[in-house]
Amino acid sequence: MENETIPKVEVISYRLCGELWLLATATSVINRRSEATLARGGTELTARMAGDMSSPVENSWTIFKEYHIDEDVGFALPYPLEDLPHPYDAWISIARNLPELIKNNQLRVEVEKLATLNIDGLRGHRAQRLAHLVLGYITMAYVWGQGDGDIRKILPSNIAVPYCKLSEKLGLPPILLYADCVLANWKKKDPNGPMTYENMDILFSFPGGDCGKGFFLVSLLVEIAAASAIKVIPSIFDAVQRKDSDTLQKALLEISSSLHKALEAFSQIHEYVDPNLFFNVLRIYLSGWKGNPLLSEGLLYEGVWDTPKKFAGGSAAQSSIFQCFDVLLGIQHSICGVPSDSAAEFLQEMRTYMPPAHQSFLLSLKSKPSVREFVLSEGNATLQEIYNKCVQAMVSLRNYHLQIVAKYIVIPARQQPQVEGNLEEENRGTGGTNVMDFLKTVRSKTKNSLLKEE
Ligand code: HEM
Repeated sequence: MENETIPKVEVISYRLCGELWLLATATSVINRRSEATLARGGTELTARMAGDMSSPVENSWTIFKEYHIDEDVGFALPYPLEDLPHPYDAWISIARNLPELIKNNQLRVEVEKLATLNIDGLRGHRAQRLAHLVLGYITMAYVWGQGDGDIRKILPSNIAVPYCKLSEKLGLPPILLYADCVLANWKKKDPNGPMTYENMDILFSFPGGDCGKGFFLVSLLVEIAAASAIKVIPSIFDAVQRKDSDTLQKALLEISSSLHKALEAFSQIHEYVDPNLFFNVLRIYLSGWKGNPLLSEGLLYEGVWDTPKKFAGGSAAQSSIFQCFDVLLGIQHSICGVPSDSAAEFLQEMRTYMPPAHQSFLLSLKSKPSVREFVLSEGNATLQEIYNKCVQAMVSLRNYHLQIVAKYIVIPARQQPQVEGNLEEENRGTGGTNVMDFLKTVRSKTKNSLLKEE
């Protein structure tokens, strides 16, 4: 990663646990190399951090850098690049004109004319992330076309080959990800202005007017609101290690207040995202080819693999934010790292769609002393109450999210002309889950983590 793009960072020390094996089982072929990178990175960090337990905050700035976490924007990519040099500008110009090209039925023709580019000229992390973003947009548009059921099952080699090579290099799957369309797809209109919806824009759009902008930017604003909670994490572990209840209480209060700010950011979705455009247009372009009957075999990446491959579509379930606070607070979806049901399995699988540095970060949190156990062992009523405020903030976020999913997926699905079996299909999220069952299971596990009064 280019150093100038990564501001100050904080530390969490690292120890590998059995979870890495689980990641491996849920990971697609393209990610094999990144698992190795993940494992190697983890081991190196473990070694480097050995003996550093006495001063985690002091050492934090250099090590957090390894996890690609930014002080201001958290898991989002700080200041994404907007342009690529020649010859990659050919990809940019297609991605920039996507809605127009799709409308005029020109998109596929233009894509097929592209030269097969070697990715070696894409220098630096930000250029590679921009290229992954634009190739993701182009791929989704090529596959789903006008969004009217005229689907392509083969991605031509002039796109598939560079896309898969780049994906392998970044340790990401070759499909449009949350890490692309949310975390790396933004700019400030006035560079000196605030990080607000009004002062921000996305770099690339799908058809559906401003619906995509609303969905991507509101998700980003949730990430940014939660970034201030990530910053507190090192002092939480420091306090637990020193058995310092007072400091822990203050840090947990900051977490709960940041999570409330994330909820406020979330509420902007109603203002900026139209349910019909989301359901009937944007959702189509974010759909993947795993668990999707429209592409039941998957997508054939011509010139890369001989058989079609399945990848889940872009979903905020690929955000590291919720999973980060689940791990920190000891909200268990898995038992001893083993997913206990299909919801836990899906959440675990979604980690393989996150940048490898963020996967490593989640693993590193898991390896730290348990905050929940410490709170329980202290028998301090105020501390327990404050811990519960944090868990309750996660419950509130998930409650709110459920209401949003009802408004943006379940209700519009009911308004579709009903053919036998299609309600179940329409109720699927872009990540491929049966939405309400999945989300309710995750919420009830969160609720179960509230500490009960003795
Ligand atoms: C129109 C707005 C939204 C809709 C319709 C929506 C829909 C969904 C759906 C259908 C799922 C299930 C997984 C899948 O199949 O894709 C999901 C999961 C998830 N979404 Fe959203 N989502 C929206 C906004 C957001 C935002 C703004 C965030 C926060 C950044 C978010 C965070 C999550 C998380 C973390 C999960 C995983 C489940 C969990 O941990 O609770 N979603 N979403």
